[in-house]
Amino acid sequence: MLCSLILAVFLVWATSSAHTTGRPCLCSALLPEGLQVNCSSLDLVELPTLPSDTTELHVQDNRLTSVSPGHFDRLVALKKVSLSGNPFHCDCRIQYLRSWLLRNRAVVLKEPICAGPDSVVQKAITELSDEYFSSCVLAVCTDCTYNTVIGVVLCFLILLLLWSLRLAKTRRLHTAPLEVTVDSLICAGELEKPLNMELLPQVLDVLHKKHTIKIKAT
Ligand SMILES: *[C@@H]1O[C@H](CO)[C@@H](O)[C@H](O)[C@H]1NC(C)=O
Repeated sequence: MLCSLILAVFLVWATSSAHTTGRPCLCSALLPEGLQVNCSSLDLVELPTLPSDTTELHVQDNRLTSVSPGHFDRLVALKKVSLSGNPFHCDCRIQYLRSWLLRNRAVVLKEPICAGPDSVVQKAITELSDEYFSSCVLAVCTDCTYNTVIGVVLCFLILLLLWSLRLAKTRRLHTAPLEVTVDSLICAGELEKPLNMELLPQVLDVLHKKHTIKIKAT
């Protein structure tokens, strides 16, 4: 009882501290309508889940290196967003944020810029060209192909296994007639009835030879 209570408290603590390291974001209602979410300067490395009716979002001066794909898609009421002052790493994973920024230029207060890699340091994320991401498309495709190949190979192996099991079973049926007698006895559930006494020595012999089971006839 006490144990599970401690475990529950630990779990709640662990899940709540997973996203917000330290203080939570401040939410405040705006007049006449709207919701301001202020997550600025909280040392966040990852964006928390945000209310879908957020109209103002302040996440400047954190430690965000990227925004996970789709994270802003629910936030259709946004009117102001500040993302500056984060060390965004502009590799393939920044593509979602870039295309979101390009579609929502009007709501972004200050251009977020890249902190790395070296070739694009201090460059605005929206200034990165399509060519810059050309190798990413290829990477995604290679991933797909790789997964497909692995899937096909696995399917083939499973089919091969099933086929060989089937083959082994039919071969056993053809080559070991005495064993079949035992098998079919067991399969038919005839062991529950008293055994045919004439067959018993044979059965015991098979059990002894094939399965090394010794049974004393009394
Ligand atoms: C957000 O909160 C910080 C302190 O936590 C404060 O300095 C800042 O002014 C707030 N931003 C807005 C837009 O209210």
